[in-house]
Amino acid sequence: MYSFANDYSEGACPKVLKALIETNDVQSAGYGVDEYSLAAADLIKQVIEHDDVDVHFITGGTPCNVLAISTLRAHEAVISCESGHINAHETGAVEATGHKIIAVKGKNGKILPQEIRDVMADHTDEHKVRPKMVFISDATELGTIYTKKELTAISEVCKEYGLYLYLDGARLGNALVATGNDLSFKDICDLTDIFYIGGTKNGAWLGEALVIKNDELKPDFRYLIKQHCSMLAKGRLIGVQFIALFRDKARAYLDNARNADIMAQALKYIFRQFSIPMYIDSSTNQIFPILENRVLEKIKSNYTVTEWGPYDKDHTIVRFVCSWATQKAAIQDFYNDLVMYVNED
Ligand SMILES: Cc1ncc(COP(=O)(O)O)c(C=O)c1O
Repeated sequence: MYSFANDYSEGACPKVLKALIETNDVQSAGYGVDEYSLAAADLIKQVIEHDDVDVHFITGGTPCNVLAISTLRAHEAVISCESGHINAHETGAVEATGHKIIAVKGKNGKILPQEIRDVMADHTDEHKVRPKMVFISDATELGTIYTKKELTAISEVCKEYGLYLYLDGARLGNALVATGNDLSFKDICDLTDIFYIGGTKNGAWLGEALVIKNDELKPDFRYLIKQHCSMLAKGRLIGVQFIALFRDKARAYLDNARNADIMAQALKYIFRQFSIPMYIDSSTNQIFPILENRVLEKIKSNYTVTEWGPYDKDHTIVRFVCSWATQKAAIQDFYNDLVMYVNED
C-alpha cells in the first residue's frame, strides 16, 4: 500500500533528522528557552522581516489554534469558514475553551470580507458573543491559496472592526511556493496579528512556530502555553528542527513544500489526462479529484486516500495529498495503475 492520505505519513526530512542527531548529546535549558529555540526564533524573524514579534514553538496545529484563540476574553468569539480546521476537524477544542466559533460559508475554503461584515452587523450587543478574531488558513483546508489582494481586503475589514486576524499556516510553505501565489512571509506577518508556520506537515518530525505580532496578544502567552499542557520540557526538539528548516532563507522549508506541491500537481495532470474532473482547483499539495466509485475501489486496493464525501451516487470526492517525501516513482506507479483501473471493467 502507498499512502496519499496526508503530508505527515513520513518522519522527518534528512536535514531535520541530521540536525536532531548532531545536537542529541548537547545539554540545554528546558521549556523552550534553550539556545536552539532562541536561534530558530531569530532565523524566523529574519525570514519574515519582522523583529517586533514573539515566536513560540508549539507541538501541533490544534494546540496553536486553541492557544491563539485563548488570548480572547471569555465572551469573545472567532469567525471562521465552515471548512476552517477549527470548525470542521478539531473536536470542539476551541469551543471547549468557551469561545464560540461563528461559522460562515466562505468560497473555495476562503472567507469573504462581506461575510465578516455580515457577522458584525448581526452581533451588536451583549446578548450575543462579541466577534473579536477572524480565523483563516493558507493554504486552506481545500488546498486553495489567498492572493495578496484577498488577504489585504480581509486584513482591512478586520482593522475596521477591531478584529484580530489569525492565520493558520499548517501548510503555509505549500501556499507560498504554489503557482499563483503572490504573498511572501513578510506579507503574511504584515497583514495578520498572529499566525503560525507549520512544520509538522512540511518535513519536521513535529512542531509549529507561532508568531505573535500584535502587542495586545503577547503578554503572558507562555502562561497560556503551560496551562494548556503545550509546553515541552524538551522544547529544543522543535527549535533544532526549525533551525534546519529556516537557515539559508528558509531553503529547506520551501524546498520541502515545493516537492509536495509539484508532486500533487503532477497527479492532477494525470487525472486530467483521463478527463477526471477536480472538485476544486487547488494549486498546492492537496488535490480533490471526483472519482467514479468503481475506479476508487480499485485505487483503494493499492493506495490509501481520503474519501472527502459523496459527489453523486456514482462518484466520490477524494483527497490526495503529497509531501516533502513523495517521489517521482510513486507518481509514475500511480499513473501506470490508473491506466489499468480506468480501462478494466
Ligand atoms: C489547516 C490545518 N490546521 C490545523 C491542523 C491540525 O494540526 P494537528 O493535527 O497537528 O493538530 C491541520 C491538520 O490537518 C490542518 O490541516
